[in-house]
Amino acid sequence: MSIKFNYSTDKSITIDQLKNYLDSTNISYSNREDLNSCALKLTELYNNRNFLADILIEELKNHNNIQSSNNYTSQVIIIESNKKYTIRANIWLPYANNLEEKKLYAYDNYHDHNFDLLTLGYFGPGYETILFEYDAEKTYGYIGEKVNINFKEKYTLKEGEILFLEKSKDIHLQCYPSEMSVSINIIMNEFSNKKSSQFEFDINDSSIKRILNNQSSKFLIELSSFFPSENLFEVIKTISVKNPYDYIRLSCFKTLLEMNKDSTTDILNYIRKDPSKLINSHYLKIVEQNN
Ligand SMILES: [Fe+2]
Repeated sequence: MSIKFNYSTDKSITIDQLKNYLDSTNISYSNREDLNSCALKLTELYNNRNFLADILIEELKNHNNIQSSNNYTSQVIIIESNKKYTIRANIWLPYANNLEEKKLYAYDNYHDHNFDLLTLGYFGPGYETILFEYDAEKTYGYIGEKVNINFKEKYTLKEGEILFLEKSKDIHLQCYPSEMSVSINIIMNEFSNKKSSQFEFDINDSSIKRILNNQSSKFLIELSSFFPSENLFEVIKTISVKNPYDYIRLSCFKTLLEMNKDSTTDILNYIRKDPSKLINSHYLKIVEQNN
């Protein structure tokens, strides 16, 4: 469920004070008191109008090696990322006509996240976000699946305001801000559900349009069916048991069936034992119908 915060305080903290707070406190966003307290800290960071400029100075002094460990797009500045949490700044430019800039942004795309996101409007008029909700527990997670999606509201992340988005629950669409805007996120990494898929949704059709997680291992697995061998079969069988992502394991089972090195009955047994209902129920039915 999305939650909005609009605290009023004169207190101002530095980015190091925010890091000390996150280092020394066990924050869980599923605990409302923790969430409130973290949102208040972000409000105090908002009152510090110099911290981002100071970070820019330090980054630019090191201009040959800027954000070298940043795996996000160039609109994202990683301020701190460790096992426990990530603090990042997102730069949101107004509508860009050229394709190169458009590619950097998550605009025009209704999606969820597999992590809880606490975000502060730090600078500028802010992006408008259109919020919907769905229930991941009632979803198998395959492309084309009909999903019960409910419209919640439109909201503009104004300066000093804070928005919380719940993982695998809130769907949102970012709209272009009227002027350049910056948001600051805190993600508690230890509570992120990296095993969950992230989806793009077709809101008009109420369905899953695309899986947004990295697809490179899925493509490698599916490529394997063109080079069937005992060794490759065993490697993919191991991945089908050990990989945490259900959509990757699903690719494994499809490939195992295509390679046809074990009997179909054996592979069906692996599919039945899989913990995900996407595989042990939805995909099992499809395979059984076709055999
Ligand atoms: Fe998003």
